[in-house]
Amino acid sequence: MQIVILKDAAAVAEYGAQIFIDQINRKSDSVLGLATGSTPVALYQELIKANQANKVSFKQVTSFNLDEYLGLDGDHAQSYRFFMNEQLFNHVDIDKNNTFVPPGDAQNPITACKMYENKISQSGGVDVQLLGIGRNGHIGFNEPSSSLASRTRVKTLTKETVEDNARFFAEGEFQPHLSITMGIGTILEAKKVVLLATGENKADAIRDMCEGAVSAVCPASALQFHQDAVVVIDEAAASKLVNAELYKHIESENQKLQQYLAELPN
Ligand code: PGA
Repeated sequence: MQIVILKDAAAVAEYGAQIFIDQINRKSDSVLGLATGSTPVALYQELIKANQANKVSFKQVTSFNLDEYLGLDGDHAQSYRFFMNEQLFNHVDIDKNNTFVPPGDAQNPITACKMYENKISQSGGVDVQLLGIGRNGHIGFNEPSSSLASRTRVKTLTKETVEDNARFFAEGEFQPHLSITMGIGTILEAKKVVLLATGENKADAIRDMCEGAVSAVCPASALQFHQDAVVVIDEAAASKLVNAELYKHIESENQKLQQYLAELPN
């Protein structure tokens, strides 16, 4: 894991966005894995700014979102399809026909999960997958006890996740307790993964993910098996890491190496 500790949430968003911008500029028809929640919003703002400044174009990009609530259609204000349109797709030059979110209104969710997996494979696979992390260590809606080899499927949300997300729903409004989510096995197949976390309430999950044992108790810990996982966090989210100073040292050495490589003659 590459663990990048930055001073605040704005720096995390900028660093994360640059990874996506560089990816798309290297490969204009990149396949992106996208995420919802509060954390990616600032990164999406950076992508919108870059698109509007002609520093990146999404015209040939395909995207797959991690998850969706089961029981909400894409017009529902709390659906993740709606969120993606509002937070990113409506503001950049992406072709919405090339943006995929698991169908929360699928008549047969089991078949829909299989079709989603097939669609990802047919696209050639995800080049870079964006992730947030839940306080309980979930990635996507892969809650603790999720198989580390799981594929896209229907998952029951924990009480904690339902409570964390209740802030987005009006009082008395139907809030789904089920979801369709890419599995951990699906996520691990992305060529690169970028996980963002900010704030002290993520510090335990970040410690368990980076320094704990690989275990379904902390689903994000499966990323220890990924060959190109970048964890971008602020000081608050890093506050419980035992080896934070080591990660900062490694990162500064990494930057020197990148600089050296960039200056090599072709
Ligand atoms: P958050 O959610 O970005 O809203 O904290 C992250 C997640 O649950 O994956």
